[in-house]
Amino acid sequence: SSRKKLIAGNWKMNKTSADGMALAREIVVEVGKLNDVEVVLCPPFTALEAVAKEIDGSQVKLGAQNMHPEPNGAFTGEISAPMLRALFATHVILGHSERRAYFAETDAFINEKVIAGLKHQLRPILCVGETLAEREAGDTLKVVQTQLEGGLAGTNKDQAASLVIAYEPVWAIGTGKVATSEQAQEVHAFIRGLLAKLYTEPVAQRMRILYGGSMKPANAAELLAQRDIDGGLIGGASLEARSFVELIKIAA
Ligand code: G3H
Repeated sequence: SSRKKLIAGNWKMNKTSADGMALAREIVVEVGKLNDVEVVLCPPFTALEAVAKEIDGSQVKLGAQNMHPEPNGAFTGEISAPMLRALFATHVILGHSERRAYFAETDAFINEKVIAGLKHQLRPILCVGETLAEREAGDTLKVVQTQLEGGLAGTNKDQAASLVIAYEPVWAIGTGKVATSEQAQEVHAFIRGLLAKLYTEPVAQRMRILYGGSMKPANAAELLAQRDIDGGLIGGASLEARSFVELIKIAA
């Protein structure tokens, strides 16, 4: 397809700023000049500034893992879009399943963040995906549709160019249990169909839909060969330069 592949590393709650600098430096040395794949590193907030300095002048981009919808105010412990922009972040992961499960984030709250991110020129990476129980009950597509439509409510087709979607089946996250390429492709195609309804078909064709959930060098080629899989949101395999660089090279 004409869509450039995107590989994003979600470090989750891992890496001090010193560790993050070292990892970012290795990644920049190996793939910092690659143009045919987009690479985004998403360190914890505390390592954003250090990682921003390491990737400066390279093609590697910076993302945060979460943010608050308000630009400032009495929200103890929270971080806003303007704060992220000031550290040169271009992307922000929103609605990750861990935030939904452990921090009770609702589609409505995630939607506020999506709108705020777009307003402040951050590119949201909106995560959607079903739990094992939901898949077994046959509810996968219904759950994904609710999360997608809820998360994207009020956005328009001009903003769609700045949006990235990540499909992450919860049962595949950190479990070593990857979705088969057929299972993933089915949901990715479904998501693209929903995006076409929301934003028109040509706009949907230009949007990237990432797969996330135990993606690693050994299974990446097959997943990335699927028609509607445009990259990966990588957890575990993004924590070491070797596996992350290998994934990027497979996507390139
Ligand atoms: O955001 C990343 C996903 O949650 C995938 O994590 O690659 O460790 O399964 P994982």
